[in-house]
Amino acid sequence: MHRSVQLRGLAASPRQGANSTLLLDTVLAEAERGGCRVEKIEIFRLNIRPCQGCGGCDSTGVCVLEDDMHRIYPLLQEPADIILAAPIYFYTLSAVAKAFIDRSQALWVRKYRLRSQPLLPRGDGYLIATGATRGKRLFECPRLTMRYFYDALNRNYAGDLLVPGVENEGAVLAKEAVMEEACALGRAIAAKTNSM
Ligand SMILES: Cc1cc2nc3c(=O)[nH]c(=O)nc-3n(C[C@H](O)[C@H](O)[C@H](O)COP(=O)(O)O)c2cc1C
Repeated sequence: MHRSVQLRGLAASPRQGANSTLLLDTVLAEAERGGCRVEKIEIFRLNIRPCQGCGGCDSTGVCVLEDDMHRIYPLLQEPADIILAAPIYFYTLSAVAKAFIDRSQALWVRKYRLRSQPLLPRGDGYLIATGATRGKRLFECPRLTMRYFYDALNRNYAGDLLVPGVENEGAVLAKEAVMEEACALGRAIAAKTNSM
């Protein structure tokens, strides 16, 4: 029997010991311990070019750029939950994460323009984001972006782990309460998938 992935984690930070990736790994490990089939993709290693806004996907729902994003599109169409982990750069998601998000325009086109095409399976989407400062509005922009990104993927933006005050690689490991929150998120996702 084909045992499909139930939770797919996407790591956007290229740093060794990246805070966002450490949290993602913790969530995935805990979800797996709870019986959830997980997969991690390091999107920062992929060649994902920025959307050109060319309209090439307008009538087909297929992006005309030829790069690694075409390995990801089929995965986004599987009924797995998604968890994106990214650093905050200049009060928004880093360029690696944003290029990936913008390329989901082809899927937005399928959902809202080409209504004849089948919808992507429903599911949940989560965000992990880490920033160095403690600004009150640090995560405002990513939250809004993720809501609309996940809507394009037919996912419900179901939760996030937004961590301010972590600058250097690995800094998050010293924050016990945050690491525990990551474990709790993994457990909650596993419990949800087990109950379906
Ligand atoms: C180009 C760049 C821009 C950044 N901009 C912000 C920012 O606007 N606000 C903030 O709090 N931290 C900012 N940071 C700090 C990172 O968000 C912080 O170090 C975070 O922990 C990185 O996550 P990572 O370890 O997962 O890569 C910036 C870092 C870089 C390299």
